[in-house]
Amino acid sequence: MFEIFKEFYKGKKVLITGQTGFKGAWLSLLLHYLGAELIGIALEPRNNEDLYNLLKLETKIKSNFCDIRNREKLREIILREKPEIIFHLAAQSLVLDSYEDPYATFETNVLGTMNLLEALKDSDMDTILLNITSDKCYENNNVGRDFQEGDALGGLDPYSASKAMVEILSKSYSHSFFSKSKIKACTVRAGNVIGGGDWANNRLIPDIARSIKAQQEILIRNPNSTRPWQHVLEPLWAYALLAFQYSENYDNLLKQDQQSFEHAWNIGPNSENVVPVKTLLDIFISNFNDAPDIIYGEESIKNHYEAKTLSLNSSKIKSYFGWEPRLSLAESINMTASWYRAYINNQDIEDFSIKQLEKFIELGVNSVHS
Ligand SMILES: NC(=O)c1ccc[n+]([C@@H]2O[C@H](COP(=O)([O-])OP(=O)(O)OC[C@H]3O[C@@H](n4cnc5c(N)ncnc54)[C@H](O)[C@@H]3O)[C@@H](O)[C@H]2O)c1
Repeated sequence: MFEIFKEFYKGKKVLITGQTGFKGAWLSLLLHYLGAELIGIALEPRNNEDLYNLLKLETKIKSNFCDIRNREKLREIILREKPEIIFHLAAQSLVLDSYEDPYATFETNVLGTMNLLEALKDSDMDTILLNITSDKCYENNNVGRDFQEGDALGGLDPYSASKAMVEILSKSYSHSFFSKSKIKACTVRAGNVIGGGDWANNRLIPDIARSIKAQQEILIRNPNSTRPWQHVLEPLWAYALLAFQYSENYDNLLKQDQQSFEHAWNIGPNSENVVPVKTLLDIFISNFNDAPDIIYGEESIKNHYEAKTLSLNSSKIKSYFGWEPRLSLAESINMTASWYRAYINNQDIEDFSIKQLEKFIELGVNSVHS
């Protein structure tokens, strides 16, 4: 698949929104590696530690620092650049922040996406659009099984609700407008991801990495909470695969199976990657000789509702396109830990990250899957 991807992405004009964020920066590195011509739309990186800066992405992507809530400016960039593929990742991405400022969360995630959809609706562009949402878009009624694409949408906290709204919005534009144009859009629902270069507040791995760097005690509140852990490169490879398939095979696939092919895709890890926080922590800190002490604090003091374990059923993308996760749980955690170790030891992070990417690609070369 790597050779086919290289052929496909070479010189492709690809827009990534959110290229200054954690996932967007890794996606930029991946698509640059595959030879794409990259354009970005996002807010400016916040500091020198941001992956965007560490990966020297300013030399790899033509960045437009634009707020996606600015409808006119966004439209002007889209119509000027006319990308062939758009990966829309720009979002207010944190549940806790969505409680702090629900209005800005809905404005960015929902209206920002609508601004993008509007720009495409009014164009004559021939473009693939992947709207990146989240596993949190499902109505989490703790049914006790993995979520499938056709399950009810919901979301009790503002972030999750905003992602469910993006799902509905995107489908509505596809149905009402894009079916008569050359735009092909879908939504992609992945869960929490881990990997080097995430510095978000109140996320487990960045919190642990900050504590190790500062040699301060690691405070863990919910060691027994179970989560699905997936390395960031897993869903990113799946995004690249979906854009490729929508570009090359859309009409055939639609003819074959109109009902289920349409629109949404789950990208989750296999069930062995669903383990408690403590298991992740043990593997992570085994990568550091000088890890500080771990303190198990009281259960989370936050009063906010947080959905119980979420798990995605990814059989649709597996059966359509043969996608499979490549990394075991230990490999995913060790890759993440070794990235932070390299960072703390002042290694060349651009070079280190490219090597991790190459290792990930290499794992797929001999696989029967993508
Ligand atoms: N990280 C995860 O574990 C995870 C899990 C599921 C879904 N997602 C989704 O994937 C996407 C990327 O997540 P991430 O972790 O990289 O997020 P991030 O917070 O690291 O990055 C967010 C990006 O969006 C941009 N952005 C935010 N508000 C903007 C605005 N008003 N105008 C323009 N750009 C704006 C930021 O500049 C940044 O580039 C998001 O849509 C997120 O909801 C992430």
